[in-house]
Amino acid sequence: MDYPGHWQRRHLLGLEGVSATEIITLLDAAVEFRRILDEPGRKRPLLAGKTCANLFFENSTRTRLSFGLAARRLGADVVDFSAAGSSVSKGETLIDTARNIEAMGIDAVIVRHSCPGSPKLLSENLRCCVLNAGDGPHEHPTQALLDILTIRQRLGDVKGLTVALIGDIAHSRTARSNIQGLQTLGANVIVCGPSTLVSAEWEKFGVEVSYSLDAILDRADVFNLLRIQFERQVVRPFPSIREYAYLYGMNAERLARCKKDVLILAPGPINRGLELTPDVADGSHSAILDQVSNGVAVRMAALWLCLGCASRVAPDPARHDVEARHDDESA
Ligand code: NCD
Repeated sequence: MDYPGHWQRRHLLGLEGVSATEIITLLDAAVEFRRILDEPGRKRPLLAGKTCANLFFENSTRTRLSFGLAARRLGADVVDFSAAGSSVSKGETLIDTARNIEAMGIDAVIVRHSCPGSPKLLSENLRCCVLNAGDGPHEHPTQALLDILTIRQRLGDVKGLTVALIGDIAHSRTARSNIQGLQTLGANVIVCGPSTLVSAEWEKFGVEVSYSLDAILDRADVFNLLRIQFERQVVRPFPSIREYAYLYGMNAERLARCKKDVLILAPGPINRGLELTPDVADGSHSAILDQVSNGVAVRMAALWLCLGCASRVAPDPARHDVEARHDDESA
């Protein structure tokens, strides 16, 4: 595969400010990687000799495993860090922890942290590439990219499509990155959920706000059913889980009122019976497991592009720092 010369980012911190050309470049590379993943060999050693570190300070199943698999499928080595059992409990800061890991010869750090902005902080304090695997309620760029890739594969160009994000918009990094990426590519976005979780302020950013799932069922091409982020909430935003499911859960009866080819997405983990019923999760409109498969391909593309960009920077350390700063300013 030829490296696309116009990819200029060493870091993937979020989708805010990422152009349509850059998103399409990454998605096109992901399509190619998805094809490779479906071949018997499943590997392309394009990142042989590189080492990636997974730095996860929050729980993860899909994101962590798929970043690890993506790196290995590209021939890179992977080291895994979990906050539990590390020296973080002894008072070590995030920057010191990351600098120590980087000192072992790391080329890319993949970070998940509850604090918004922590990947950016690391990008300013490390020399290696930094990829955001979710920073609190802020951004989760690779999740949005795999969502968009899945939409493109099932429904074609996202331009002009209406994508509804349902649920906990207030605390969802998946929502924020989806809004950025989808709007950049020309999709219409509706956010829908209880008013305690969906701020009318979103209208200022060109997003339609709705408080009734029933009212938008026949208008959206895609429903992305977000998990209620109980772990980020201080006060419970609705009286009971049953009430939420009654008003905002996707079920067979609601699905029957949607467009004929409607696509059902969910970032996972799903809570069957809450955001959606099992028959919808496992039904023919659902692309939930396809999203997971696409996640590996999207993360291969992200690592390949960011690490490829970094290795085009001159190896001289002094120059490296200057160019790195320049990259950060332009990124
Ligand atoms: C999402 C996350 O962690 O933000 N999950 C994921 O990465 N697959 C969504 C969620 O946890 O609800």
